[in-house]
This record gives sequence, C-alpha cells and structure tokens, in this order.
Amino acid sequence: MKFFIDTADINEIREAATWGLVDGVTTNPSLIAKTGRFYADVLREICEAVDGPVSAEVVASEAAAMLEEGERLARLHRNIVVKCPMVVEGLKATRALSNRGVKVNVTLVFSPLQGLAAAKCGATYLSPFVGRLDDIGHDGIAMVGQLVQILRNYSYPAQVLVASIRTPTHLLRAAEMGAHVATLPFGVMKQILHHPLTDAGLEKFLADWRATRQKI
Ligand code: E4P
Repeated sequence: MKFFIDTADINEIREAATWGLVDGVTTNPSLIAKTGRFYADVLREICEAVDGPVSAEVVASEAAAMLEEGERLARLHRNIVVKCPMVVEGLKATRALSNRGVKVNVTLVFSPLQGLAAAKCGATYLSPFVGRLDDIGHDGIAMVGQLVQILRNYSYPAQVLVASIRTPTHLLRAAEMGAHVATLPFGVMKQILHHPLTDAGLEKFLADWRATRQKI
C-alpha cells in the first residue's frame, strides 16, 4: 500500500519524508490557500522534497480551461498529477489530459459509480472522500471496498486513493479492503506509529540493558 501525505505544509512533508513513509503528496486548493503562498511555488517545492506523485488541482469550471490549467500544472514538474473534480466538465478534462499522457487524480468521488465513470475516462487515481461521507452520517469507507472490486472486475489500471482520512481506523479498513493508496494528514501518519506498549516495552529493555553496564 502506498502512503501519500495530505498537506501543502512543506515542513510537515519534509518531516514525514524522513520517516521513510511518504510515497507521494496530495494537495487541494484549500490546503494551498492555508499556506498563504503562490500555488506554483508551493508545488515546485513539494516536488523537490518528495520523489513521487504530487497531486495539484485545477480550479476552472469548464473542461477547456481545466485542460489548459492541467497542462500548465503538469509542466511544473514531471511528478505532477493533475486533480480534476468528479463533475461532467472534470471528466471531459480527465479524458483529454489522459489522452495527452498526463496522469489525472479524479477528486471528490462520493459513490462507486462516480468512480467507475472516472476509471472509464482514463483516470490514474480515484479519490473517494471517506471522512466527508462520515460527516453526513454515511459509512464512507464502505465505498472503498466497492471501488476496489469494480476496478478488479474490469482490470482498470486506475488506483483507489483513499482521501479525507480522519482516523487510523479509516486507514486500517482501507488497507483491509485492498486500497492501493491512502493519503494521510500529518497527524494521522504520526498516530499510526505509536503504541503505549511499544514505549513501555522499550523503556524496560533499555533499563535492563543499562543495568548490565555493557556496550554494543
Ligand atoms: C485529498 O486529496 C483531499 O483533498 C483531502 O483528503 C480532503 O480531506 P478533507 O475532507 O479532510 O478536507
């Protein structure tokens, strides 16, 4: 399973990259806006920090303009994956970009059939937003298993990139369902590394070792 980090904060990205866990990065307009910096500058810096796919979202609403933005974003760096929203215009742009060899992450997927449509249009990644579905009382993660199965049924090359992850349990269920990628907020990535029994066990090992007064 690949782990992407879901942030535009370069310090978080650099820190998580030192843990050896970061295979790629996802951003969105809200995350970039939070940095208060220029879109292209942030994206270039991220691409230099992580050698893996970096998703950058278009903000136009017509397919032709999305295509133009997507091509501009793709020219920033070879690792850029253009994010298009799961709307009709976004699908048109996805098809056109994918025909030109640009990788596309179709974002804001909230149903398995939206995902199927995106896979048919040549998307490289499908991003189901599990947390936002939970927010409105649905079982967001259930869609992940359906998407994985649908892609498998028809051997689509698209990968399920689980997004809007809020808890380690989301990640656990996504991994059990065979999702290809999970994009994790920095906090969740940190959370999954810790267990109180690991800390207690290590403390005891080291105390016992110190008592031997040996050196390795
Ligand atoms: C990533 O591609 C998505 O934009 C992100 O995971 C959305 O997360 P949120 O629902 O917590 O904003």
